[in-house]
Amino acid sequence: MKNRLSRRFNDPSIASSDITPEQVWVNRRTLLASGLGMAAAGLTGGAARTHAKELTGLDYRVAPEGPPVGEALTPFADVTQYNNFYEFGTDKSDPAQYAHEMTTDPWTVSVGGLVNKPGKLHLEDILSGFDLEERIYRFRCVEAWSMVVPWIGFPLAKLLQRFEPTSDARFVRFRTLYRPSEMRGTRSFTAVIDWPYQEGLRIDEAMHPLTLMTVGLYGKTLPNQSGAPLRLIVPWKYGFKSIKSIVAIDLLDEQPETSWQRLAPHEYGFYSNVNPEVDHPRWSQRFERRLPSSLFKPNRIPTQLFNGYAEQVAKLYAGMDLRRYY
Ligand code: MTE
Repeated sequence: MKNRLSRRFNDPSIASSDITPEQVWVNRRTLLASGLGMAAAGLTGGAARTHAKELTGLDYRVAPEGPPVGEALTPFADVTQYNNFYEFGTDKSDPAQYAHEMTTDPWTVSVGGLVNKPGKLHLEDILSGFDLEERIYRFRCVEAWSMVVPWIGFPLAKLLQRFEPTSDARFVRFRTLYRPSEMRGTRSFTAVIDWPYQEGLRIDEAMHPLTLMTVGLYGKTLPNQSGAPLRLIVPWKYGFKSIKSIVAIDLLDEQPETSWQRLAPHEYGFYSNVNPEVDHPRWSQRFERRLPSSLFKPNRIPTQLFNGYAEQVAKLYAGMDLRRYY
C-alpha cells in the first residue's frame, strides 16, 4: 500500500534543507504502536478512521539526528503539555488539562467569501482528499520560546483551491470553534480574547507551499490541546498566527482583523513575521528559549529572520518596511 506519510514534498520552491533527507528512513512502527489509542481519538467515521489507522501504522521519513535544520526535535511531552490555547485557560498547562472537554467529532469546516464554490466540508472529506506529509518545522512563539516539531498535514493552498478563490480574494480569515460549554476559558470573566479566536493571512502567504494545514504531530492525530482536528502552521510567523481547531475560512478583499491585533494593536501586527530586529514592546525578540528549557539549562539561541525561512519567504515582503508592517 502506498505510504501516504512518506510522500515527498515536491515543491521546487522548498529548499531541500527543509525536507527530511530521502535517504534517511527510520521504522517508527514500534514507536507509534503505543500511540494507537490516542491517534484514533477525535476522529471517527469511515474514511477518518481508516486514515487514523494509517497515521499510526506507517513508516515515514525522519532524520535520526534531528530535523534537517540540524536541531533536535522537541520531545512530544513538551509539545503537548506546554501550550497556548486560551479557550481553555491562560496557563500553559491548561490546554493539556482541559482541552479534552472539546468535542471534535463531528467536525466541519466552512469555506466562503470570495470563492466560486463556497461550501462546508466534513473533516473526513478533507482528510480523504489530500495526501499527508510530515514536515519538520521550527515553531517560534512571540513569548520567545520555540520548538522543533514534526507536523503532519497538507498545504493550505490545496484546500483553498478546491473552493476556487476569485481574483478579488486578497486575504484569508480563519476562525476557531467557539463553544463555551466545552471551553472553560471562554466562560471566564477575565477572558482576554474577543471570541471566536480569529487570524488572517494575505492570500500569497496562505498559498505559500510552507503554509500547512495540520492534522497531526509526531505521527499521531493532533491532541486537542494542539488544535485538533485541524490547525494552521505558518512556520515563518510567530506562533499565534497558527490558529487552532479551525471551523471557518473566508476569503476577503480586505485585511481581516485578528484577535491579538484587536486586543493590543501596538504589540501584535497583522504580519507577525519572526524578526529579531523588531522587539515586542515589552521584551526583546533577539533570542528564544528552545524547549525543553529550564533555569539551569535555558537553551537560549539567537532568533533568525523569518524564523530561518527567509530563503523561501523573504520575497513575499520585498520592498516592505518590516518595522512598520510587523
Ligand atoms: N489558537 C486558538 N484558537 N487559541 C489560542 O489561544 N494560541 C496561539 C496559537 N493558536 C491560540 C491559537 C498561540 S499564542 C500560540 S504560541 C500557539 O497557538 C501555540 O501552539 P502550541 O500550543 O501548539 O504550541
